[in-house]
Amino acid sequence: MQVISIINQKGGVGKTTSCANLGAALALQGLRVLLVDLDPQAHLSISFDRMPEPGDPSVYTLLTQGHSFADVTQPTQIDGLSIAPTNLDLTGAESELSSEIGREGILRLALNDLARSKNAPDLVLLDCPPSLGTLSLNALVASDSVIVPLQAEFFALQGMAQLLDVLERVKRRLNPSIELAGILVGLYSKQRNLSREVVQELNDHFGDLVFPTHVNVNVRLAEAPSHGQTIFEYAPDCGAAIQFREIARELSDRLGMLKDEPPACQPQAAKKIVPAEVSARVSEPLLEQEAE
Ligand SMILES: Nc1ncnc2c1ncn2[C@@H]1O[C@H](COP(=O)(O)OP(=O)(O)OP(=O)(O)O)[C@@H](O)[C@H]1O
Ligand SMILES: [Mg+2]
Repeated sequence: MQVISIINQKGGVGKTTSCANLGAALALQGLRVLLVDLDPQAHLSISFDRMPEPGDPSVYTLLTQGHSFADVTQPTQIDGLSIAPTNLDLTGAESELSSEIGREGILRLALNDLARSKNAPDLVLLDCPPSLGTLSLNALVASDSVIVPLQAEFFALQGMAQLLDVLERVKRRLNPSIELAGILVGLYSKQRNLSREVVQELNDHFGDLVFPTHVNVNVRLAEAPSHGQTIFEYAPDCGAAIQFREIARELSDRLGMLKDEPPACQPQAAKKIVPAEVSARVSEPLLEQEAE
């Protein structure tokens, strides 16, 4: 069972959209995928129409009351795709957990139990909130790897230095095997020079870590959640559906999870999350900016 955080502390960059549609694409490839809603806004749960009533089992009760994934997981309309949903109760979790011993490891323990059970999925995708607090830390401690969705906009690299710094510290102190699996460019507009320039800059900084397929701006992607659907039910032939399918194929290839291919070797040594020369190029100018 592989666990991936979909994380970026910037808001509205496509984390939830990527989580729902990548998860659906991977399930349609034949993988068993669990989506976990770690955001108190509960957008992922709402987009599958699976938001629990207040007090019902949810990711909130899993983190604060000892519920297991078996207690909170619900099926979705897509075969092989399930969701551990949350509701607005999760808003209180950060402060409730603040005095809890080992609070950043609660999700990892629950996922370890799931991995040992007969219902273990092949892949778990964690939809993180737009912040780097206890909930995101739980995600990073529990994850084998990380996908960072970015918007093809001027501020795309803003905040990356902070995120890379947190990832490095998590890797050094809490989770030595965590890796950056990829950077996903969403909200891409072919017509705009700016989108192309931002992608060029990302490619210069991060090279192969950037998924070669980008998700174009597509109104169908924004509409699908209001129908409780992923793009594969709402508009299965549109460009965004094709793009998410391609990114899912690339991801399962990178992770060695293609059904008909032998698993690739997973590097376990605690090497840097991105090559030193890459993180230096990204971090230094941005850290200077942040310090100003
Ligand atoms: N490629 C796209 N084309 C058009 N709309 C998009 C696209 N990707 C995302 N959106 C829309 O942009 C908004 C933000 O996307 P999303 O909720 O996935 O971002 P997020 O990073 O999860 O946000 P938050 O930080 O608030 O959790 C949503 O309304 C979503 O429907
Ligand atoms: Mg979101």
